[in-house]
Amino acid sequence: MFAYLSLLALGQLAVTAVVVPIGHGDTRPQASTGVRALPIATSPVGLSQAAKAAGKLYFGSATDNYHLTDGPYISILSDQLQFNQITPGNSMKWDATEPRRGVFNFAGGDEIVAFARKSNQLVRGHTCVWHSQLAPWVTQGNFDNSTLQQIVKDHTTAVVSHWKGQMYAWDVVNEIFNEDGTFRQSVFLDTIGPSYVEVAFRAAREADPSAKLYLNDYNIDGLGAKSTGVVNLVRSLKSSNVPIDGIGLQAHLIVGSLPPNIQENLEQFTNLGVEVAITELDIRMTLPVTPEKLEQQRKDYASVIGACNAVKGCVGVTIWDFTDKYSWIPSVFAGEGVALPWDENLERKPAYDGIIQGFTGQVLYK
Ligand SMILES: *[C@@H]1O[C@H](CO)[C@@H](O)[C@H](O)[C@H]1NC(C)=O
Repeated sequence: MFAYLSLLALGQLAVTAVVVPIGHGDTRPQASTGVRALPIATSPVGLSQAAKAAGKLYFGSATDNYHLTDGPYISILSDQLQFNQITPGNSMKWDATEPRRGVFNFAGGDEIVAFARKSNQLVRGHTCVWHSQLAPWVTQGNFDNSTLQQIVKDHTTAVVSHWKGQMYAWDVVNEIFNEDGTFRQSVFLDTIGPSYVEVAFRAAREADPSAKLYLNDYNIDGLGAKSTGVVNLVRSLKSSNVPIDGIGLQAHLIVGSLPPNIQENLEQFTNLGVEVAITELDIRMTLPVTPEKLEQQRKDYASVIGACNAVKGCVGVTIWDFTDKYSWIPSVFAGEGVALPWDENLERKPAYDGIIQGFTGQVLYK
């Protein structure tokens, strides 16, 4: 792995690797240092500071319980100038909160909510109903329609009411769409039909009327069939008076290939009468990291943040953890990584400056 050199006052430009020829035609980085110079961030402004100055409610990060013993990590995570919102990465999911029917475990979620309260940070609850990281008893129980409806209702009621009054928002349903905009196959769709979505939203509203209720998904960041599916569902839910307040765009993106028309997509969502948020942002690259890829990543962060910045109903942005040290990417996408604004040594990358530039609205890359 590479370490980043601290270089004074060089901005984002002209930082190149020191290379020496090693044998015929070989220009590997100088072996004596073992370090390749990569550009670093230079902005003195904090991320939530920039978000708030732009009129947004928050800039946040996901985190997980096992990170909370890492001192250097928590000193950044608890810095309100960087983050005024937290999302628990795993500890509020169904397999964690209701591992057996009617047996609830809120310890992991409680720990993260307590951390956020101490740091004066908002919390986004994640997530009530999702086909993945679902407790096996739900899929294996062969429940009939009305029993499974009751299970969805009971689970949603239990987790949302446990943190009543303490959540900014809940991702009530997560990843319910296929890429073509139809409903994803799941035990919920198979047994109940599309109305499981309505069951969950109604239970969540009843359990905590003060939390904003979101539908959250990936690959709904730009215009396309999946985003159109979201539009059609939200329109139909609202016409049936199902309480939905927001659409969460996960935004797990790839350096150099952002989806098209992010801003227009955010606008088509807010035109439905809901707010939007970017909920799980990271922008990964194929390894190895190079100065050029980091520069493209800076632009891509600026573009995504700039799109949110330009749309009034985009209330905030959450990155899916803030350091490459704890990113989920390498374990899921082999050979990819370096997706977050802090590197694995907790040094800020050019992506950090890109976020600030997106919030100032000065830099928009199409
Ligand atoms: C489940 O029951 C609901 C009524 O509570 C009904 O609308 C729905 O069609 C049923 N689903 C299936 C798959 O039969």
